[in-house]
Amino acid sequence: MKCITDIKALRELLKQWRRAGESIAFVPTMGNLHAGHLQLVNRAKAQADRVVVSIFVNPTQFGVGEDFSLYPRTEQADQEKLQAIFVDAVFMPSTEEMYPVNELTKVSVSQVSENHCGAARPGHFDGVATVVCKLFNIVQPDKAFFGEKDFQQLTVINAMVADLNLPVEIISVPTVRESDGLAMSSRNGYLTPEQREQAPQLYQSLCTAKVLIRDKKTAYIDIEKQQKKFLEEQGFRPDYFSICRRYDLQTAGQDDSEIVILVAAKIGKTRLIDNIQVDVEH
Ligand code: PAF
Repeated sequence: MKCITDIKALRELLKQWRRAGESIAFVPTMGNLHAGHLQLVNRAKAQADRVVVSIFVNPTQFGVGEDFSLYPRTEQADQEKLQAIFVDAVFMPSTEEMYPVNELTKVSVSQVSENHCGAARPGHFDGVATVVCKLFNIVQPDKAFFGEKDFQQLTVINAMVADLNLPVEIISVPTVRESDGLAMSSRNGYLTPEQREQAPQLYQSLCTAKVLIRDKKTAYIDIEKQQKKFLEEQGFRPDYFSICRRYDLQTAGQDDSEIVILVAAKIGKTRLIDNIQVDVEH
């Protein structure tokens, strides 16, 4: 496995692979790799000749007072995990390599990035879209793999790729969960043992809402209120619990068929997000 920190060297390697007619899959990450990331890599390996993983804790997607400086950096362990599953190259640029000048350009996707996490974390999705666009331009992959755990992020990236005609196919991969239902996340490592015990209730609230939606007896606004209350009783501070249309993340009506329920809640200092998809037959 090649470990590369500069853009020029990565481009040189990619050029050789392309000349040999090999297809390239890309998995962007911020490191601290868990089974969810490894699942993305395994899907990528099955669909391309070469797999590139990036590890870059992108400062521009963290707001003031968020966990940028605390975010777990575990490069050595990450490299060992990637080596063990035969990744071809890991790209680990410095901040200076990615942002050498005070750049004047940013990618901003309107509408789908404005509500939910976008409202709670102003500027977050501009940071994500900009760094992903830069990484796509550096790697120029045939396919790129993203987890459904960050459903709004996935929606933002799909919109960016469509709107800017970026020549990459986005492949979404279902969320990987712990055996008690908690979605895998690098931020789970912040939880105290007691909070870790409570954390699966977030997924529980989504499962309950899914049953109620399918049951068609309760107004969506009441389901949202009930589940927020449930989360508060379990010791969370819910940020939002939203029943949305899957294609544009706007509030779903009772007659919509393709739904995603998005939730974000704090437990102690840790902000967790999760979602579940629901298909409703009419
Ligand atoms: O999902 C993440 O880990 C990050 O938001 C991403 C896509 C690597 C961009 O920094």
